[in-house]
Amino acid sequence: MIEALDGLRDVIVCETRISRIALVNGKAVLEYRGYDIRDLAKHSCYEEVAYLLLYGELPKKYELQDFKIELAERREIPPQIIGLLTHLPQYTHPMVVLRTSISYLGSLDKLKDLKTKEENLEKSKNLIAKIPTIIAYYHRIRMGKNLIPPTLELGHAANFLYMMHGYEPSKIAEKALDVDLVLHAEHELNASTFAARIAASTLADMYACVVAATGTLMGPLHGGAAQEVMKMLREVATPGGADEYVRKKLEKGERLMGFGHRIYKSIIDPRAEILRELARDLAKIGNRIWFEISEAIAESAYKYKKLLPNVDFYSASVYANLNIPDDLFVNMFAMGRIAGWLAHIIEQYETNKLLRPRAKYIGETERKYVPLDQR
Ligand code: SDX
Repeated sequence: MIEALDGLRDVIVCETRISRIALVNGKAVLEYRGYDIRDLAKHSCYEEVAYLLLYGELPKKYELQDFKIELAERREIPPQIIGLLTHLPQYTHPMVVLRTSISYLGSLDKLKDLKTKEENLEKSKNLIAKIPTIIAYYHRIRMGKNLIPPTLELGHAANFLYMMHGYEPSKIAEKALDVDLVLHAEHELNASTFAARIAASTLADMYACVVAATGTLMGPLHGGAAQEVMKMLREVATPGGADEYVRKKLEKGERLMGFGHRIYKSIIDPRAEILRELARDLAKIGNRIWFEISEAIAESAYKYKKLLPNVDFYSASVYANLNIPDDLFVNMFAMGRIAGWLAHIIEQYETNKLLRPRAKYIGETERKYVPLDQR
């Protein structure tokens, strides 16, 4: 028996060809199917990255065009789901809405248990295409606004912003969200992806695996951190207020949301570096304050505890400048990560071994049963 009681830290539980996180010459490297995330963020788009994660290769021009059309054609959601969005209590967290909607989508798919390559890819395209619509529709419904149906013409990121706000986004806003989705698309065996793989290792259907991942992502130590970062930015309120806020929080032994990482220890999350540039560019055309407060917090976090930002930290000011409500930040994370989850679910199906670790029992043993009337 191997004991790995510290949150499975540095424990390898499976092999993958989907992504690599490595330390090369003192810098963190993140690659999707062997391609550096910096190149993908600079030259690719979310649809191309989703194709890469699912098929394992960059698409040729016609393959990407076909894939984009296939996703666009699958954006509309069934009327039963719209009915669900209308009847859920208005206070329902958007991630609970997403989790419930994905589960309902599964109940509408008569082929949900089929796991042929074609079926897996068909379900994957459906989920990648429909998740933005579910999120945007729920937001419009809870705001009492009319639904903006998806277009066939706009790209994945632009279409989401169009459905959310009712107008086509600027090129800068579209590019910012697109890069953000690329950066959130995949990250090896993070908690939500691991949850998906565990469910897939029992051969549960794809929807069940994605529901497991969605529920796991919601926690504040994982994808829920970005919403907590925004709460922190609002509490700090001005760049000048950052230093005392950070010092007091750390003195109380509290966690700074958006900082630290299980893998990136004393090296910065490569995604955070790219998101910082994105946040700075958006700040030039939007509300500068969130980026300026973020910079002040990051400086103090490093000064007091050598803490470095992770993928969730600068995402907050990016989303704020895209007019995304705070409680939708983790949904944005899911909108990106769905491609990685699906790639891992398919990989698990194809190379399956049931994932079933052990637990070390530390309770009492061999206890004598005492009849009820003698207790
Ligand atoms: C994501 O795994 C992934 O890949 C996840 C992710 C992905 O793409 O899927 O990258 C996305 O989830 C990013 C992380 C988002 N969560 C947060 O920002 C929440 C705040 N971060 C921390 O809770 C923490 O950094 C974790 C949970 C992310 C990692 O925790 P670890 O690896 O278990 O580290 P630890 O708790 O053992 O901390 C080690 C030390 C401790 O100091 P000591 O108590 O030993 O003195 O670092 C300190 C911690 O106190 N520390 C922090 C801190 N993170 C670590 N102190 C203050 N604030 C923090 N954020």
